[in-house]
Amino acid sequence: MTFVESDIDAIAGFEGRVAVFVTPDGRMDPLARRVNRLTKGAIARLIEDAPKAGDAHVLAYPNSMAAKAVDVICLDRKCSVAEARAAGATLAKKRGTDALLVCLNNHNKLDQVALGLALRDYRFDSHKSDAETKDSRTVTMMVNDPEGVSAKAEPLLAVAEGVFFTRDLVNEPANVLTTTEFAERLIAMRGVGLEVDVLEEDKLAELGMGALLSVGQGSDSPSKVVVMRWMGGEDDSAPLALVGKGVVFDTGGISLKPAAGMEDMTMDMGGAGVVAGTMRALALRRAKANVVGLVGLVENMPSGSATRPGDVVTSMKGDTIEVINTDAEGRLVLCDVMHYAQETFKPAAMIDLATLTGAVIIGLGHENAGVFSNDDTICDAFLKAANAENEGAWRLPLGKAYADQLKSRIADVKNVGGRPAGSITAAEFLHRFVQEGTPWIHLDIAGVAHVKSDTAHAPKGATGWGVMALNRLVQNRFEVQ
Ligand code: BES
Ligand code: MN
Ligand code: ZN
Repeated sequence: MTFVESDIDAIAGFEGRVAVFVTPDGRMDPLARRVNRLTKGAIARLIEDAPKAGDAHVLAYPNSMAAKAVDVICLDRKCSVAEARAAGATLAKKRGTDALLVCLNNHNKLDQVALGLALRDYRFDSHKSDAETKDSRTVTMMVNDPEGVSAKAEPLLAVAEGVFFTRDLVNEPANVLTTTEFAERLIAMRGVGLEVDVLEEDKLAELGMGALLSVGQGSDSPSKVVVMRWMGGEDDSAPLALVGKGVVFDTGGISLKPAAGMEDMTMDMGGAGVVAGTMRALALRRAKANVVGLVGLVENMPSGSATRPGDVVTSMKGDTIEVINTDAEGRLVLCDVMHYAQETFKPAAMIDLATLTGAVIIGLGHENAGVFSNDDTICDAFLKAANAENEGAWRLPLGKAYADQLKSRIADVKNVGGRPAGSITAAEFLHRFVQEGTPWIHLDIAGVAHVKSDTAHAPKGATGWGVMALNRLVQNRFEVQ
C-alpha cells in the first residue's frame, strides 16, 4: 500500500478501479468533487437519492477517465472504527484483481479504512499455479498528507502483517507446515527483532514434558517447543505470557477421527499461529511491553509408536494423566508448555490459545471464541479489547463440579470429562496447571480460527482471530505509556 499526493491527472489516467467518498448528507470529499467535475456530474447524479452510511455505488466505465469503474462509498465524517474498516473491506471485496486507487483527501479515520482494506484484501494463493502476479493488485491511497497518513497507518498495518502471518500459517497444509517448517518460520522472525529459541525433543524429555511428548510420539515429525521473546518494556517488569497449541495435524491418533472433514485439522495449530502473529505485530510496531510467546509444535498421528488409549503419562508439573482418548491431545500439549512458561518467566499474566474442542463450536458457533478465566480483571480487559476489535469472545464458567468430571481411577487426572460441557472440562484440565497467583485466560478458538464463509475482516479460511484483540490488550494493559 502506497500513499501519494492528490493529483487529478493521475486519477483521470488510472487504469483499474478508483474509489471516492461521500457523506450520508450528500457532501463529497474534495477528491470526489474533482472526480465529479471530471465526469461532468456523474457522482452527483449517482448519489441523488440520499446515500446511507455503508452504501457503495458503482459508476462503470466513467467518461473522461481511464478507469474501469469508480466506487462511490458513503462514509460519515464521524464514523466509528468499525464503519471505517467496513468501508475499506468493501473496497477490497469489489476490486477483484484490479489495481485500486483510493481517493480520500480528508478523513480522520483514513488509517482505519486502510486497515479494513488490507485485512479483507488478503489471499492465500501460493499453491495456485495460475495465481495472478501481486504487481497488478496494487493499492494506492491518494490523500492530503501522505507522510502523515502513512505514519499514522504504520502501527495498524504492522498489526495487519501479524494477522497475515497467522493466516498464512493456519492456511498452510500439513505436508508443508511440518513442526520443523513451523519452527523455521518462527526462527526467521529474528529478522524483525524477536529473540527465538527452539527446544528439541531431547531437551523436552530432560525437562519432563511427558504429556506433550506423548502426543507427538506417533509422528515422524519431531515435537518442538518454540519460545519467542519481545522485551520492549521495562527491564524488571514481568512479561505477559502467550501460550499456543500447535498441533500441525490432528488425526486424533489411535482414537482416530472420522474421514469426513479431517482435512480441516491442518488448522489445529491455530493457537500457535495467533501467538506467532501477535509476537510479529508487537515486534513490527516496537511495542513498549514485555511479552513472551511459547508454542508447542507436535503432530498427532496413529502408528506403532503412538500413545494408546489407557496409557498413563507424566506431565512436567508431575501430575500423572490417564489418556482416555488420544484425540483430546491439545490439553496434553498445553499443560506442559503452560507449566514451563510459568516456571521460566514468572509471568504477570498468562493467556493460552487453542483450537481445543469441537464442543465450543456447538456452543458458540463461529461467532465467538470461548473465554475462560480465573481473574475477572484481566478477563474483562481482554473482553473489552476483543469487542473494540470486533473479534467475538464470550466468557464461559469454570467450577469444581466440572473439574471433578476429570477424576481418574488410576492416575491424578484423565484427559477427557465426558460429553457434558466438553469445552469447560477441557478448560478445567488446563486450570490444574495454572499456578497460584497467575492471572490466566484460556481462549478456545476452534470455531473462530478458520471459517467456511467470509467474515467482516477476512475471506473464508484462516481468520487470524485474536491477533488484533491481543495486540490491543497489550497496548491497554501492558505497555509503558
Ligand atoms: N482439534 C480438536 C478440536 C477441534 C474440532 C478443532 C473441530 C477445530 C474443529 C481437538 O483436538 C479434539 O479433537 N477435541 C475432541 C475432544 C474430545 C475427544 C474430548 C473433540 O472436541 O471432539
Ligand atoms: Mn484432537
Ligand atoms: Zn486437536
